[in-house]
Amino acid sequence: MKKINWGILAAGRISSWFCTGLQTVSNANILAIGSRSQEKAEQFGDRFEIERRYGSYEELVNDPDIDVIYVGVPSRWHHEYTMLALRAGKNVVCEKPFSMNAKDTKEQITYAREHNLFLMEAMWTKCTPVYRTVMDWVGQGRIGEVRFFKADFFTPGKANPPHRLYNYEIGGGALLDLGVYPITYACSLLGHHPTEILSTADFAHTGVDINNSIILKYENGSYAAISSGFNVHQQNPAVIVGTKGKITIDHNFLCAESAQLRDLNNEIIQQVHYPFEKNGYEYEGMEATRCLQAGLKESPWIPLEHTQAVMEIMDTCRKQWGFAYTFEK
Ligand SMILES: NC(=O)c1ccc[n+]([C@@H]2O[C@H](COP(=O)([O-])OP(=O)(O)OC[C@H]3O[C@@H](n4cnc5c(N)ncnc54)[C@H](OP(=O)(O)O)[C@@H]3O)[C@@H](O)[C@H]2O)c1
Repeated sequence: MKKINWGILAAGRISSWFCTGLQTVSNANILAIGSRSQEKAEQFGDRFEIERRYGSYEELVNDPDIDVIYVGVPSRWHHEYTMLALRAGKNVVCEKPFSMNAKDTKEQITYAREHNLFLMEAMWTKCTPVYRTVMDWVGQGRIGEVRFFKADFFTPGKANPPHRLYNYEIGGGALLDLGVYPITYACSLLGHHPTEILSTADFAHTGVDINNSIILKYENGSYAAISSGFNVHQQNPAVIVGTKGKITIDHNFLCAESAQLRDLNNEIIQQVHYPFEKNGYEYEGMEATRCLQAGLKESPWIPLEHTQAVMEIMDTCRKQWGFAYTFEK
């Protein structure tokens, strides 16, 4: 079977983590790196033994041998460079958040569909073995009907600006960068169209939301309680409570390597421990590569309509806070 040729757009931090995982994917070949700087492209190319190094994103997306572009720029530019790659006729995997708002996400999805191109949000959580197992347990009715989901994603914001979380100009902020994970998880468990969204946020001096809390309520009486932020230390656990039992994830639910299935008395019925083969990003690399080899236009694990629905929920939250980035279209 033909190997899938990847082009990496941006030589930043997440691109390096993604390439570390992708290097272990048997049917994937990292063919090219594109950076705004030729020097950075060369350094990144040396580090990951990448053959073609481009000093501009335009040259990268126009390489005819590339099958798929991975977009690893800051959030503000996800839309712009996803569209650049799609317009060059390339399949795309773009980092989360998929864009700054639902309108831009819609444009990305519509363009890809109209031009028969593969498009996927790099929501790596959904490709990890523990997440897949949790969804299997829920699908098999092991905890009955899901009634409640609680998860937090806090990551203390290290050094103030210019750390990306604080940085307004690049599209920082807790909701889009961190909150996207628990919202995505909640929607996978409870549905993508809550009947009610209640939310509140606090803001950093740079203008971005530093902490937020969200409740999603559903027609059947179930709900999710979610928080994210970067001025609190937390282990980032998650709990999924059903009518017959519950599932617990003790820390970092978004990239968990362990989970426990429990009865209503909290006794463990079953537990799984799946250490990452590399760093956890290999699974999304495998999934996109598998889809491309199969000729799919979207991943069944990360449906585009789910990405769209999550962006709409985040739009609603920001509207409740009166928070729009001035550079949003
Ligand atoms: N999935 C995950 O686990 C995960 C983890 C961390 C971050 N992320 C996401 O990945 C994205 C990037 O985060 P990061 O930590 O990799 O950021 P980063 O280290 O700052 O790298 C971003 C890269 O984007 C490129 N870029 C293009 N236009 C830019 C501009 N105007 N200003 C700054 N950089 C620009 C730069 O590459 P060149 O100089 O080579 O052009 C830069 O190195 C964010 O949207 C974030 O949400 C995802």
